[in-house]
Amino acid sequence: MEKIVSLCKRRGFIFQSSEIYGGLNGFWDYGPLGAELKRNIKESWWRTMTQLRDDVVGLDASIIMHPKIWEASGHTSTFSDLMVDCLLTKKRFRADQVEPQSGTAYFYTGATDPATGKESEDAFSVLIPTGRHADYARKPARHFYQLRGIENPNLQGERFEEVQNSTRYNPENGSLLTEPRPFNLMLKTYVGPVESPDNLSYLRPETAQAIFVQFKNTLDVSRQKVPFGVCQIGKAFRNEINPRNFTFRSREFEQMELEFFIRPDEVVQKMVGSVAKLSDPQPSTLNPQPNWGWELWHKYWVEQRVQWYESIGLGRDTLVEYWQKKEELAHYARATVDILYKFPFGTQELEGIAARGDFDLTQHQKFSGKSMEYFDDEAKAKYVPHVIEPSAGVDRLALALICNAYCEDQAPDEKGKLETRVVMKFHPRIAPIKVAVFPLLKNKPELVKKAKEVRELLRPHMSVFYDEAGAIGRRYRRQDEAGTPFGLTIDFDTLGEKGPELQDTLTLRDRDTMKQERVKIGDLVPILLEKIR
Ligand code: GAP
Repeated sequence: MEKIVSLCKRRGFIFQSSEIYGGLNGFWDYGPLGAELKRNIKESWWRTMTQLRDDVVGLDASIIMHPKIWEASGHTSTFSDLMVDCLLTKKRFRADQVEPQSGTAYFYTGATDPATGKESEDAFSVLIPTGRHADYARKPARHFYQLRGIENPNLQGERFEEVQNSTRYNPENGSLLTEPRPFNLMLKTYVGPVESPDNLSYLRPETAQAIFVQFKNTLDVSRQKVPFGVCQIGKAFRNEINPRNFTFRSREFEQMELEFFIRPDEVVQKMVGSVAKLSDPQPSTLNPQPNWGWELWHKYWVEQRVQWYESIGLGRDTLVEYWQKKEELAHYARATVDILYKFPFGTQELEGIAARGDFDLTQHQKFSGKSMEYFDDEAKAKYVPHVIEPSAGVDRLALALICNAYCEDQAPDEKGKLETRVVMKFHPRIAPIKVAVFPLLKNKPELVKKAKEVRELLRPHMSVFYDEAGAIGRRYRRQDEAGTPFGLTIDFDTLGEKGPELQDTLTLRDRDTMKQERVKIGDLVPILLEKIR
């Protein structure tokens, strides 16, 4: 990860937000290459999820929405993590992320100051390595009571006991942590000039709810029929207690979400006479069928999503499909599959695909008083549709693609000596720059002119980078680090100096194999388009 984080900064994939002011924990900026990478991810997702399908349409909703939406969705009451604070430093941890500790715990019932007569009856405890002298515990304990106004504390009621695998102590200093308490992750703001509880609003913690609340409007204008979906890409905000693992858990991030509305199983049963289930022998999960119940639609979307990850270079061997156990499911979910990626810091979630029943639409129907029912012409039935929700994070995926692309191999330098080459092997579909154009020498106006002509030829079709500075080998290396899959070199043969057969040809270099082939400038656009689409 260290190498990856350093490359991200050095090459302009990802910068710390507000870096010149010391940064802001949990916020990140994407530099020139990162911005292109993210755009390519989102464009590919959007194209696959809606433009290449008949049954999904798009939405682009506002980030701040009516606060009642978050009451209906359950976010104001339940969207929280349990947190604990260190009693000495006030540092906050997610309760489930505290590393278990073993050692000798010293307990105190309070402290008094003989000089002033002040006393505290607050209990405190501290964990120290077994075998260490009690003074090791007394020092932080005194500090605890000093923080409570006892200047020269006499510790009261000291006792100790051995403790195994306890998560009640701060792993960094052994201090007792507060009891776990829920911490709502939504970021608050006030809409309008008055900061009153009536004007309290939230930055959305997910994009999904906007799709549910616009279900009826979208349905009315799009002439879709259930089963159909609405997808959206946009920013989401969560006041994460411990942002960590580079961009993996951030406080501001982007989601790509689809809500795919389906018939309830009872309606399918009534209409077709049966409901296909996952346990049926060899059900096809590739071509939707009228007898599909929620199980097969769910499996279908899991398969579609994995296929998309493969299409942008994350092979099945890099992913894990995790089917949540019954006891892990959210109360409204019938099934959830997490698609995990094998990050260098552990195998972690990229996307969740949940079968959410009719929970969301029913909640909004209840809280808004507006009907969310749909009349199904074909089934001759009125119902609240059920939903399958594939929900992915753009930033996590960008990080996974960066980790996946990072390679080191050996390549010859200008003198033919092997040196370590860092190469970002992005799939050409999502590579930030598709092709780099190099005149062999920058002080030969004919080469430069021709190279610039090639750049202009390709520009309308793809992102092109023109580079004339330095030795050609160095220029290749720079593009290898940026993950540019193709390099084009314009040399004296291009100008026809070795005869007319090579005139208007150039070398096309493949980033991964480093092989070079001679191609005609006139053939470049179709050759490259085939490779990057
Ligand atoms: N609407 C469902 C939903 O929001 P989620 O599992 O909480 O589900 C979906 O989030 C995806 O959003 C995650 O799989 C992850 O890719 C991304 N995500 C969630 N929290 C994130 C965070 N703090 N930082 C970066 N990405 C996050």
